[in-house]
Amino acid sequence: MPKLSDPITIRGMEVKNRIGFPPMLSMSSDANGCPTKKSYNVYETKARGGAGLITYEAVSVEPVIFSAQNVTANIGKDDNIPAYKKVTDAVHKYGAKIGMQLADGGLIGFVLASIFGFKVEARGPSSVDLLHLTSAYETMVSSWPDTLKQTGAICKEMSMEDIIRVEDLFAAGAKRAIQAGFDFIEIHSAHATLHSAFLAPYSNVRTDKYGGSTENKCTFLLETMEKIRNSIGDKPPLFVRLSVDELLPDGLKMEESKKIVKIIENAGVDCIDVSQGNMIRNPKGIQIPSYFEHGGFIHLAEEIKKVTNVPVIGVGRIVDPKMADEFIQQGKADIIYMGRQLICDAETPNKYFNGQLDDIKYCMGCLQKCASTCVYDAYSGQNYTDLTPSADLKKIVVLGAGIAGMEAARVAKLRGHDVEIYEKSDKIGGLIPLLAMEYKKEEFMNIVNYLETQLKKLDVPIHLNKELTRQEISDLKPDILVLATGTEATVPKNLEGKPNVLTQDEAILKSKPIGKNVVIWGLGAYWRGGPETAITLAEQGYNIKALMGSNTTVATEMLMATGRRLWILEYLRDNKIPVYTKAKLLDVTEKGIKFLDENKNEQFIEADTFVYCGSRITKAKKLKKQFEAVAPKIQLIGDCKRPRDIAEAMNDAQTFARKLK
Ligand SMILES: Cc1cc2nc3c(=O)[nH]c(=O)nc-3n(C[C@H](O)[C@H](O)[C@H](O)COP(=O)(O)OP(=O)(O)OC[C@H]3O[C@@H](n4cnc5c(N)ncnc54)[C@H](O)[C@@H]3O)c2cc1C
Ligand SMILES: Cc1cc2nc3c(=O)[nH]c(=O)nc-3n(C[C@H](O)[C@H](O)[C@H](O)COP(=O)(O)O)c2cc1C
Repeated sequence: MPKLSDPITIRGMEVKNRIGFPPMLSMSSDANGCPTKKSYNVYETKARGGAGLITYEAVSVEPVIFSAQNVTANIGKDDNIPAYKKVTDAVHKYGAKIGMQLADGGLIGFVLASIFGFKVEARGPSSVDLLHLTSAYETMVSSWPDTLKQTGAICKEMSMEDIIRVEDLFAAGAKRAIQAGFDFIEIHSAHATLHSAFLAPYSNVRTDKYGGSTENKCTFLLETMEKIRNSIGDKPPLFVRLSVDELLPDGLKMEESKKIVKIIENAGVDCIDVSQGNMIRNPKGIQIPSYFEHGGFIHLAEEIKKVTNVPVIGVGRIVDPKMADEFIQQGKADIIYMGRQLICDAETPNKYFNGQLDDIKYCMGCLQKCASTCVYDAYSGQNYTDLTPSADLKKIVVLGAGIAGMEAARVAKLRGHDVEIYEKSDKIGGLIPLLAMEYKKEEFMNIVNYLETQLKKLDVPIHLNKELTRQEISDLKPDILVLATGTEATVPKNLEGKPNVLTQDEAILKSKPIGKNVVIWGLGAYWRGGPETAITLAEQGYNIKALMGSNTTVATEMLMATGRRLWILEYLRDNKIPVYTKAKLLDVTEKGIKFLDENKNEQFIEADTFVYCGSRITKAKKLKKQFEAVAPKIQLIGDCKRPRDIAEAMNDAQTFARKLK
């Protein structure tokens, strides 16, 4: 069996190894759908990092861009070819092969446009109940059924002319992609795109040549393949991405997918890109949070490999290149796509092949950025801004060994500054070890482990159990004092001192007694961890009820993280955890919690314990006063500056350290 480092040939295209970067929207195109400087960097870094195969994100073939699409890539007109040529030139410098994924988003485009307030026609193979076709959004956006009702939107059955138009646009787009130097073409026929909707049993109920038997349902895909082949000539390989299991009770499943694979293999497909899930009904196989096992979908590629002779790509939460190598050596797939891992650390292939395993930044599966950047590297976005040495070297003292303090120290030291960290507790990582105790969030420790390894390598001293006094700081004579001291958990003033009122930290750590029946306050901001604290306690056997204030949306600000947010919402729903929104907290007594409900009626919930997951407080003001003028410059970063999230903590740290002269 081959290894990860072995080359593979696909229809005469030599790929230097078996690590690939899958198509992933980078939200980096300009208003014409052309790649920007950021896009060049997104793809060039993957090639420079050692991936053998790269697939450019879903690209529209429509000649006209609708206004919400100004971040969507487009190859619908000749004018766009030169900009894409720059991408392929950049990638080819490193010996990688790059293909373009051509996509008609089908109802995905309709849903996103509706949410962002734009109008896009809902169309598909058949006029099927739109609410059913977009069922994930019924869970995620409570007003979604009303929106559909109010607009009267229906899924329009595509006419023969509509179908032929799309096929022709794909053929023309493919030709332009090859003119722009792409090595291969992929048809996006997965995840609820238009082509995949023709394959799925619930969305295609046509009775003409495009519906009915499996063969008929493949007609649209086969005609598109044929027209593309005619337009690009014999040489370039043609890939098809399929959701071989849509992870839906009535969705496309493995048995039928195997038949589809045989049909498209006979029609000349060169590679099957095996994916799973449906963006608008169940995105969890596409946006895979840390709740899912690493490599947990590889059995799908393995099954497909049994019925085809063309190379098969496997994907899904594969983070560790050792695991990728094992999958290749076990014959489970011919190529492994590593998506978010290469966004997190594009150099993963080189580091693996060169034996620098402890330098790899491992993806945490947080799904909080991914498209635009990675939380590790929120400053420069997808690791493309190189660090330069500083000219004016400073002595920097950092208070706090949370991620903000550690990242600031790492970048400043790499740029040549003299840095030390003082941490008042007995451990590094700040809040991360705490949040890693939440349900299936242990991988968040990856960021701490990475920073710890790097700081050791850089010889940055971290003094634990040390809360410096003003005098001690003054004696160190720093040029810059960095306050990265984070936040403290709180409870509302009127509840302070009540034995049955716990802060979030106390509840997670069980550092105070906690009763069986628990009411949690604060499920709005995902970055305060409230929704996952509720799930954690529920998993531990507590009976949970939840209250929310003015913010009525559970786990807000997580639009990109649809997979993680949907999972949270489904968990709360399926475990019948009541969530009272627009509540006003009145009091916590020995017997339970008094509050006004959304109709301003007083309610009482019997409970043993109240857990407050609301705002945390920073002591920045007090510290600034305490340390005033102890150093020529005092810099606040991370939650100390303002309580926010991991990406912002890292962003603050990098902004500070990168801007040093
Ligand atoms: C339960 C929970 C779940 C969360 N979940 C998420 C999530 O899913 N995604 C997300 O993005 N964010 C999440 N967050 C937020 C995230 O953890 C923080 O935004 C981030 O860790 C802040 O990092 P920091 O380094 O700024 O501060 P901290 O992590 O608070 O680190 C500050 C450090 O400074 C030390 N310190 C304090 N005072 C001093 C002093 N005087 N001298 C020396 N050291 C001092 C502290 O001991 C601590 O080690 C969650 C937070 C909580 C509480
Ligand atoms: C932000 C984001 C954007 C994505 N964009 C696309 C896309 O344009 N086309 C596609 O087929 N899949 C897309 N996917 C799915 C990925 O290609 C990949 O299958 C998924 O991220 C699982 O792989 P990973 O766990 O290695 O990241 C996207 C996923 C994410 C998280």
